[in-house]
Amino acid sequence: MEEKSVLVTGAASGIGLACVGLLLKEGANVAAFDIQGDRMAQELPGDEARLLRIQGDVSRSENCEAAVTEAVDRFGALDALIHWGAAHSSARWDELGAEECNHIMSVNVTGTFLIAQAAARHMTPRGQGAIVLCTSTSVLQGVTGGDGQGGPAYVASKGAVIALTRSFARALGPHGIRVNAVSPGITETAMIAGYTDEQRAAMLRRFPLGRFADPDEIANAGIYLISDKSSFMTGEIMQVNGGSNFG
Ligand SMILES: NC(=O)c1ccc[n+]([C@@H]2O[C@H](COP(=O)([O-])OP(=O)(O)OC[C@H]3O[C@@H](n4cnc5c(N)ncnc54)[C@H](O)[C@@H]3O)[C@@H](O)[C@H]2O)c1
Repeated sequence: MEEKSVLVTGAASGIGLACVGLLLKEGANVAAFDIQGDRMAQELPGDEARLLRIQGDVSRSENCEAAVTEAVDRFGALDALIHWGAAHSSARWDELGAEECNHIMSVNVTGTFLIAQAAARHMTPRGQGAIVLCTSTSVLQGVTGGDGQGGPAYVASKGAVIALTRSFARALGPHGIRVNAVSPGITETAMIAGYTDEQRAAMLRRFPLGRFADPDEIANAGIYLISDKSSFMTGEIMQVNGGSNFG
Protein backbone atom coordinates (compact mmCIF):
# COMPACT_ATOMS: atom_id res chain seq x y z
CA MET A 1 0.00 0.00 0.00
CA GLU A 2 3.07 2.25 0.54
CA GLU A 3 2.73 4.68 -2.31
CA LYS A 4 -1.05 4.89 -2.46
CA SER A 5 -2.95 8.10 -1.73
CA VAL A 6 -6.46 7.39 -0.54
CA LEU A 7 -9.49 9.58 0.17
CA VAL A 8 -11.50 8.08 3.05
CA THR A 9 -14.93 9.46 3.94
CA GLY A 10 -16.76 8.94 7.22
CA ALA A 11 -13.32 9.31 8.78
CA ALA A 12 -14.44 10.75 12.14
CA SER A 13 -16.14 7.60 13.41
CA GLY A 14 -16.59 3.85 13.25
CA ILE A 15 -15.50 2.02 10.12
CA GLY A 16 -14.07 5.10 8.35
CA LEU A 17 -11.95 6.00 11.39
CA ALA A 18 -10.67 2.42 11.62
CA CYS A 19 -9.89 2.51 7.90
CA VAL A 20 -7.78 5.67 8.26
CA GLY A 21 -5.77 4.04 11.07
CA LEU A 22 -5.15 0.86 9.10
CA LEU A 23 -4.11 2.74 5.94
CA LEU A 24 -1.69 4.97 7.85
CA LYS A 25 -0.18 1.87 9.45
CA GLU A 26 0.31 0.41 5.96
CA GLY A 27 2.19 3.52 4.82
CA ALA A 28 -0.50 5.13 2.65
CA ASN A 29 -1.21 8.84 2.36
CA VAL A 30 -4.72 9.49 3.65
CA ALA A 31 -7.11 12.37 3.02
CA ALA A 32 -9.68 11.95 5.79
CA PHE A 33 -13.06 13.52 5.00
CA ASP A 34 -16.05 13.95 7.31
CA ILE A 35 -18.82 16.41 8.08
CA GLN A 36 -17.75 16.32 11.76
CA GLY A 37 -14.51 18.30 11.56
CA ASP A 38 -14.07 18.71 15.33
CA ARG A 39 -14.63 15.05 16.02
CA MET A 40 -12.15 14.13 13.29
CA ALA A 41 -9.54 16.42 14.91
CA GLN A 42 -10.16 14.69 18.26
CA GLU A 43 -10.09 11.16 16.90
CA LEU A 44 -7.15 11.75 14.55
CA PRO A 45 -4.83 14.08 16.48
CA GLY A 46 -1.21 14.99 15.70
CA ASP A 47 0.79 16.27 12.74
CA GLU A 48 1.15 13.08 10.77
CA ALA A 49 2.60 14.17 7.41
CA ARG A 50 0.70 11.44 5.59
CA LEU A 51 -2.68 12.56 6.99
CA LEU A 52 -4.81 15.40 5.67
CA ARG A 53 -8.11 16.23 7.45
CA ILE A 54 -10.90 17.75 5.36
CA GLN A 55 -14.23 18.85 6.76
CA GLY A 56 -17.07 18.62 4.27
CA ASP A 57 -20.50 17.32 3.38
CA VAL A 58 -20.65 14.60 0.72
CA SER A 59 -24.07 15.82 -0.41
CA ARG A 60 -22.49 19.07 -1.65
CA SER A 61 -20.69 18.80 -4.97
CA GLU A 62 -18.35 21.73 -4.21
CA ASN A 63 -17.21 19.98 -0.99
CA CYS A 64 -16.54 16.74 -2.88
CA GLU A 65 -14.60 18.50 -5.63
CA ALA A 66 -12.60 20.51 -3.08
CA ALA A 67 -11.72 17.33 -1.17
CA VAL A 68 -10.26 15.70 -4.27
CA THR A 69 -8.39 18.89 -5.20
CA GLU A 70 -6.92 19.23 -1.69
CA ALA A 71 -5.86 15.60 -1.64
CA VAL A 72 -4.20 15.89 -5.05
CA ASP A 73 -2.48 19.15 -4.09
CA ARG A 74 -1.10 17.57 -0.93
CA PHE A 75 -0.17 14.10 -2.18
CA GLY A 76 0.36 14.64 -5.93
CA ALA A 77 -2.42 12.27 -7.03
CA LEU A 78 -5.37 10.25 -5.76
CA ASP A 79 -5.18 6.50 -6.28
CA ALA A 80 -8.32 5.45 -4.48
CA LEU A 81 -11.53 6.51 -2.79
CA ILE A 82 -13.10 4.52 0.04
CA HIS A 83 -16.46 6.05 0.81
CA TRP A 84 -17.87 5.00 4.20
CA GLY A 85 -19.64 8.23 5.21
CA ALA A 86 -23.41 7.93 5.55
CA ALA A 87 -26.41 9.14 7.50
CA HIS A 88 -28.72 6.78 9.39
CA SER A 89 -32.49 6.72 9.81
CA SER A 90 -34.49 4.38 12.03
CA ALA A 91 -37.90 5.86 11.27
CA ARG A 92 -40.53 3.22 10.42
CA TRP A 93 -42.81 3.50 7.38
CA ASP A 94 -45.53 5.29 9.38
CA GLU A 95 -43.10 7.72 11.06
CA LEU A 96 -40.93 8.67 8.10
CA GLY A 97 -41.61 12.07 6.54
CA ALA A 98 -40.45 13.57 3.25
CA GLU A 99 -37.86 15.78 4.92
CA GLU A 100 -36.01 12.94 6.65
CA CYS A 101 -36.37 10.72 3.60
CA ASN A 102 -34.92 13.41 1.32
CA HIS A 103 -32.06 14.07 3.74
CA ILE A 104 -31.06 10.40 3.81
CA MET A 105 -31.26 10.15 0.02
CA SER A 106 -29.28 13.35 -0.36
CA VAL A 107 -26.40 12.15 1.85
CA ASN A 108 -26.39 8.43 1.05
CA VAL A 109 -27.36 8.42 -2.64
CA THR A 110 -26.53 11.85 -4.10
CA GLY A 111 -23.51 12.08 -1.79
CA THR A 112 -22.22 8.69 -2.92
CA PHE A 113 -22.67 9.76 -6.52
CA LEU A 114 -20.96 13.13 -6.02
CA ILE A 115 -17.88 11.86 -4.19
CA ALA A 116 -17.41 9.05 -6.72
CA GLN A 117 -17.89 11.51 -9.59
CA ALA A 118 -15.28 13.90 -8.15
CA ALA A 119 -12.78 11.06 -7.69
CA ALA A 120 -13.51 9.68 -11.18
CA ARG A 121 -12.91 13.09 -12.78
CA HIS A 122 -9.39 13.00 -11.38
CA MET A 123 -8.79 9.30 -12.08
CA THR A 124 -10.01 9.03 -15.69
CA PRO A 125 -7.24 11.15 -17.27
CA ARG A 126 -4.71 9.03 -15.32
CA GLY A 127 -6.28 5.82 -16.63
CA GLN A 128 -6.17 4.15 -13.21
CA GLY A 129 -7.84 4.12 -9.82
CA ALA A 130 -10.08 2.20 -7.46
CA ILE A 131 -13.34 3.28 -5.86
CA VAL A 132 -15.08 1.50 -2.98
CA LEU A 133 -18.63 2.40 -1.96
CA CYS A 134 -20.61 1.10 1.02
CA THR A 135 -24.00 -0.59 0.99
CA SER A 136 -25.48 -2.72 3.78
CA THR A 137 -26.58 -6.28 4.48
CA SER A 138 -29.89 -4.74 5.58
CA VAL A 139 -30.74 -4.33 1.88
CA LEU A 140 -31.21 -8.10 1.68
CA GLN A 141 -33.33 -8.40 4.80
CA GLY A 142 -36.37 -6.14 4.52
CA VAL A 143 -35.56 -4.23 7.69
CA THR A 144 -38.38 -2.08 9.03
CA GLY A 145 -36.68 0.47 11.32
CA GLY A 146 -37.47 1.09 14.98
CA ASP A 147 -35.27 0.22 17.98
CA GLY A 148 -32.23 1.71 16.26
CA GLN A 149 -32.24 -0.50 13.16
CA GLY A 150 -32.34 0.92 9.63
CA GLY A 151 -35.75 1.92 8.32
CA PRO A 152 -37.14 2.33 4.79
CA ALA A 153 -35.20 5.52 3.98
CA TYR A 154 -31.85 4.07 5.06
CA VAL A 155 -32.36 0.69 3.42
CA ALA A 156 -33.60 2.23 0.16
CA SER A 157 -30.57 4.53 0.07
CA LYS A 158 -28.24 1.58 0.57
CA GLY A 159 -30.03 -0.34 -2.19
CA ALA A 160 -29.31 2.57 -4.52
CA VAL A 161 -25.59 2.28 -3.70
CA ILE A 162 -25.59 -1.19 -5.29
CA ALA A 163 -27.01 0.28 -8.51
CA LEU A 164 -24.48 3.13 -8.43
CA THR A 165 -21.62 0.67 -7.94
CA ARG A 166 -22.59 -1.24 -11.08
CA SER A 167 -23.28 1.90 -13.12
CA PHE A 168 -19.90 3.42 -12.22
CA ALA A 169 -18.11 0.08 -12.71
CA ARG A 170 -19.39 -0.21 -16.27
CA ALA A 171 -18.71 3.43 -17.11
CA LEU A 172 -15.23 3.61 -15.58
CA GLY A 173 -13.86 0.14 -16.35
CA PRO A 174 -12.71 1.19 -19.84
CA HIS A 175 -10.71 3.96 -18.12
CA GLY A 176 -8.86 1.45 -15.93
CA ILE A 177 -10.87 2.27 -12.81
CA ARG A 178 -12.41 -0.49 -10.68
CA VAL A 179 -15.56 0.21 -8.64
CA ASN A 180 -16.79 -2.17 -5.94
CA ALA A 181 -18.82 -1.96 -2.74
CA VAL A 182 -18.53 -3.44 0.72
CA SER A 183 -21.78 -4.66 2.26
CA PRO A 184 -21.20 -4.81 6.02
CA GLY A 185 -23.30 -6.74 8.48
CA ILE A 186 -23.95 -5.21 11.89
CA THR A 187 -20.79 -3.51 13.13
CA GLU A 188 -19.97 -2.09 16.58
CA THR A 189 -20.09 1.65 15.79
CA ALA A 190 -22.12 4.73 16.67
CA MET A 191 -24.57 3.75 13.93
CA ILE A 192 -26.03 0.95 16.06
CA ALA A 193 -25.99 2.89 19.34
CA GLY A 194 -29.79 3.11 19.25
CA TYR A 195 -30.30 -0.68 19.40
CA THR A 196 -32.21 -1.80 22.47
CA ASP A 197 -30.84 -4.79 24.43
CA GLU A 198 -33.68 -6.94 23.06
CA GLN A 199 -32.87 -5.83 19.52
CA ARG A 200 -29.17 -6.66 19.97
CA ALA A 201 -30.02 -10.11 21.34
CA ALA A 202 -32.48 -10.80 18.51
CA MET A 203 -30.00 -9.70 15.84
CA LEU A 204 -27.12 -11.67 17.40
CA ARG A 205 -29.08 -14.90 16.88
CA ARG A 206 -28.57 -14.43 13.12
CA PHE A 207 -24.77 -14.49 13.46
CA PRO A 208 -23.13 -17.94 13.41
CA LEU A 209 -19.98 -16.26 14.75
CA GLY A 210 -22.00 -15.08 17.75
CA ARG A 211 -20.92 -11.45 17.59
CA PHE A 212 -21.14 -8.28 15.51
CA ALA A 213 -18.19 -7.00 13.44
CA ASP A 214 -15.29 -4.98 14.74
CA PRO A 215 -14.87 -1.84 12.55
CA ASP A 216 -11.38 -3.04 11.47
CA GLU A 217 -12.90 -6.21 9.99
CA ILE A 218 -15.06 -4.13 7.63
CA ALA A 219 -12.37 -1.53 6.91
CA ASN A 220 -10.01 -4.30 5.82
CA ALA A 221 -12.46 -5.36 3.11
CA GLY A 222 -12.37 -1.84 1.68
CA ILE A 223 -8.57 -1.84 1.78
CA TYR A 224 -8.51 -5.19 -0.02
CA LEU A 225 -10.79 -3.77 -2.75
CA ILE A 226 -8.42 -0.88 -3.48
CA SER A 227 -5.38 -3.14 -3.43
CA ASP A 228 -3.80 -4.91 -6.40
CA LYS A 229 -4.93 -8.19 -4.81
CA SER A 230 -8.42 -7.47 -6.14
CA SER A 231 -7.22 -6.36 -9.58
CA PHE A 232 -9.83 -8.41 -11.48
CA MET A 233 -12.81 -7.38 -9.35
CA THR A 234 -15.19 -4.68 -10.44
CA GLY A 235 -18.93 -4.08 -10.02
CA GLU A 236 -18.96 -6.51 -7.07
CA ILE A 237 -20.75 -6.25 -3.75
CA MET A 238 -18.51 -7.84 -1.13
CA GLN A 239 -20.56 -9.29 1.73
CA VAL A 240 -18.79 -9.09 5.10
CA ASN A 241 -21.42 -10.09 7.61
CA GLY A 242 -20.24 -12.90 9.88
CA GLY A 243 -22.55 -15.34 8.13
CA SER A 244 -25.65 -13.43 9.22
CA ASN A 245 -27.31 -13.65 5.87
CA PHE A 246 -27.51 -17.22 4.67
CA GLY A 247 -30.05 -19.92 5.38
N1 LIG B 1 -22.51 -0.07 11.73
C1 LIG B 1 -23.23 -0.95 11.05
O1 LIG B 1 -23.84 -1.86 11.64
C2 LIG B 1 -23.31 -0.87 9.55
C3 LIG B 1 -23.94 -1.92 8.88
C4 LIG B 1 -24.04 -1.87 7.47
C5 LIG B 1 -23.50 -0.78 6.80
N2 LIG B 1 -22.90 0.22 7.48
C6 LIG B 1 -22.35 1.34 6.70
O2 LIG B 1 -20.99 1.50 7.05
C7 LIG B 1 -20.59 2.84 6.79
C8 LIG B 1 -19.86 3.42 8.00
O3 LIG B 1 -20.80 3.51 9.08
P1 LIG B 1 -20.38 3.40 10.61
O4 LIG B 1 -21.07 2.22 11.18
O5 LIG B 1 -18.91 3.55 10.75
O6 LIG B 1 -21.17 4.69 11.17
P2 LIG B 1 -20.70 5.96 12.00
O7 LIG B 1 -21.96 6.68 12.33
O8 LIG B 1 -19.79 5.55 13.11
O9 LIG B 1 -19.85 6.80 10.92
C9 LIG B 1 -20.45 7.48 9.85
C10 LIG B 1 -19.62 8.71 9.56
O10 LIG B 1 -20.18 9.36 8.39
C11 LIG B 1 -20.11 10.75 8.61
N3 LIG B 1 -21.09 11.47 7.80
C12 LIG B 1 -22.43 11.49 7.97
N4 LIG B 1 -23.00 12.30 7.08
C13 LIG B 1 -21.99 12.83 6.33
C14 LIG B 1 -21.96 13.77 5.27
N5 LIG B 1 -23.07 14.36 4.81
N6 LIG B 1 -20.75 14.10 4.73
C15 LIG B 1 -19.61 13.54 5.23
N7 LIG B 1 -19.59 12.64 6.24
C16 LIG B 1 -20.78 12.31 6.78
C17 LIG B 1 -20.43 10.89 10.11
O11 LIG B 1 -20.03 12.17 10.61
C18 LIG B 1 -19.66 9.73 10.70
O12 LIG B 1 -18.34 10.11 11.07
C19 LIG B 1 -21.89 3.59 6.43
O13 LIG B 1 -21.98 3.72 5.02
C20 LIG B 1 -22.97 2.68 6.95
O14 LIG B 1 -24.19 2.85 6.26
C21 LIG B 1 -22.79 0.20 8.84
